[in-house]
Amino acid sequence: MSHRVSLKDYFLQNPNLKYILFGGKGGLGKTTLSAATAYWLASQGRRVVVFSTDPQASLTDIFERNIFGKGEVEIAKNLYALEIDADKRIAEYQEEIRGKIREMYGIEQIPEEIDDYIKSAAAEPAMAESATFDAMVELMSGGNYDFYIFDMMPHGHAIRFLSMAEILDTWVDKIVETRKKADEYGDVASVLSGKGGLAQEDKMLEELTFIRSRLNFVSEMIRDKDHTAFFYVLIPESMPILDTRKALEMFRAFKIPLSGVVVNQIYPVELLKDPTVPAYLKNRISMQQKYMNTIWGEFGPLIRGLVPMLDREPKGLEMISKISRILFG
Ligand SMILES: Nc1ncnc2c1ncn2[C@@H]1O[C@H](COP(=O)(O)OP(=O)(O)OP(=O)(O)O)[C@@H](O)[C@H]1O
Ligand SMILES: [Mg+2]
Repeated sequence: MSHRVSLKDYFLQNPNLKYILFGGKGGLGKTTLSAATAYWLASQGRRVVVFSTDPQASLTDIFERNIFGKGEVEIAKNLYALEIDADKRIAEYQEEIRGKIREMYGIEQIPEEIDDYIKSAAAEPAMAESATFDAMVELMSGGNYDFYIFDMMPHGHAIRFLSMAEILDTWVDKIVETRKKADEYGDVASVLSGKGGLAQEDKMLEELTFIRSRLNFVSEMIRDKDHTAFFYVLIPESMPILDTRKALEMFRAFKIPLSGVVVNQIYPVELLKDPTVPAYLKNRISMQQKYMNTIWGEFGPLIRGLVPMLDREPKGLEMISKISRILFG
């Protein structure tokens, strides 16, 4: 027998865990496993919130409750779910930016070209990510829960945030340096004029420092093995295995500890012995078993859970509790 650490063992061995992230390629089971983990923790009497960082209303779908844009909604005892309305937050951002521009330049009306620019920037996918990211930090800073489960957007994004933190660090350092130089040269005119030069730079610096502190918060959170666990979801197919391999390399490069992988959607191998099962399905099962060998060989010690392919989509609390029993016993 191997001494594989199951998901439950992992939680028992790491009693200080607080932030749980599920990552992985699209459509493999991040939302399902996030919900099942949240369900189990809540059933253990812990206060849990599950947060979807996905622009699709996936928690609304799995919990069969309309929670989109409604804040933290109680789903069951100790179990809360939060699905933010990123578009609404972006609209609020735009207003904030307009306000800042008005204040900084002492103007009433934002010039049309600038307003057009603000509008087009809002359409950038990075804006939705940034809004989501803000909401994550806000939720964690609230400190109202024992566990925060993050159903992440398809892989890469979390890591991109980290590289963003590093780029911003350099940027802020550069501005601070320029600021110091300007001081040395005694940029009296700018200081006196109040509105221009250094005063504006200070505002910008303030803003960047704030963004940096937010990014650093998550960057530290993701690397803190004592409080944070990052699980990667895959299924026994070729592309997800390749993706997991690449993700592991990226995680290593960014020095993010990966807490484990969960293999989902495994067809029950017993069906191979059943004469009533059509060859079509048996072929798929054999294919999966071949990939399971690869998975055991490559990620063996990291496997924290194996979840069968169920005969229907796991939706609603009853099905979630079923997955939770499979995962946590
Ligand atoms: N073990 C399972 N058995 C049967 N269906 C499953 C299983 N796990 C997930 N599914 C179904 O597969 C689909 C994808 O799962 P899920 O939504 O959890 O993935 P996801 O990784 O969150 O996807 P996305 O990247 O789109 O957010 C859903 O329809 C879900 O109900
Ligand atoms: Mg999802």
